[in-house]
Amino acid sequence: MLSVEHLDLFHGDARALDDVSLEVPDGAIVAIVGANGAGKTSLIRTIAGMHRPAGGRITFRGVDIAGWPSHKVCNLGIGQVAEGRQVFPSLTVLENLEMGAMLPRAKALRRRQLERVYALFPIMAERASQAAGTLSGGQQQMLAIGRCLMGAPELVMFDEPSLGLSPTVVQDVLRTIRDLNAEGLTCVLVEQNVAVSLKLASRAYVLENGRITLSGTGAELLADDRVRQAYLGL
Ligand SMILES: Nc1ncnc2c1ncn2[C@@H]1O[C@H](COP(=O)(O)OP(=O)(O)OP(=O)(O)O)[C@@H](O)[C@H]1O
Ligand SMILES: [Mg+2]
Repeated sequence: MLSVEHLDLFHGDARALDDVSLEVPDGAIVAIVGANGAGKTSLIRTIAGMHRPAGGRITFRGVDIAGWPSHKVCNLGIGQVAEGRQVFPSLTVLENLEMGAMLPRAKALRRRQLERVYALFPIMAERASQAAGTLSGGQQQMLAIGRCLMGAPELVMFDEPSLGLSPTVVQDVLRTIRDLNAEGLTCVLVEQNVAVSLKLASRAYVLENGRITLSGTGAELLADDRVRQAYLGL
C-alpha cells in the first residue's frame, strides 16, 4: 500500500533520515521502533507531506507522493495522529471532529464517519458540546484518533499514541488501534511501549540515527537479542 524507498531528509544541515526504505502492506500494522531522536516523527511527518525529502520515493497505491503538500496527502487517504494529542482546545468535541471531515474525500461521508466515531468512543457523543481542552488526557487522545477517522483514511500513522497516559488508558488506546486494524485500517505505529507494539505488528523496523538497522516480523524483532537489550531492557 505504502512504499518508502531510499528516503533522505535534512533538518538544516543535520541529516534526520538516511536512505530509509520500508513497506507497509495493505491491512498491516507496521511498527517503527527507535530511541529518542532516532527520526521516527521526522519519518511520519515526511510521509505526511510536512517535511520535503532531499531524495527518495514515497509511493501510496502506486502514486509517488514525495514532496506533495500535506492536504493532498491527507486527501489520498493517509491520516496521522500526531505526537502530543493535537486537539483544538477551545473548540468543542464535535467541532474538532468536524474539522477532520473537511477533506474533499470525507465531506460526503461526514455523517457516517461521525456515527462510526461515536460508536467507537461513546464518551465523545456524551461530551460533544464540551470544549476539547477540558477533556482528560485519554479522552483527548480518543478525540485525536476520532478526528483523524473523520477524514476516512485508509492508512493511519500513529505517533506515540499512549504517551503520558495511565496504564489502563494505554491499554484502551492500543486495543482501539487493534480493533481499527481488524476492521481493515492499515496502521503505522510508533510507540514507546515497544513490547506491545511488536506484539501488535505484523512487520517492524528499527530506526537508529535516521537509518533502518533491523527489520522483520514483530515476533522476530521481539525475539532479537539486540532489540531485547536496547528497547526492552531484557
Ligand atoms: N523541525 C526540526 N528542525 C530541526 N531539527 C529537527 C526538527 N525536527 C526534528 N529535528 C531533529 O531531528 C532528529 C530526529 O527527531 P525526531 O523528532 O524525528 O525523532 P523521534 O525518533 O521522533 O524522537 P522521540 O522519540 O523523542 O519523539 C532529532 O535530532 C531532532 O532534534
Ligand atoms: Mg517523535
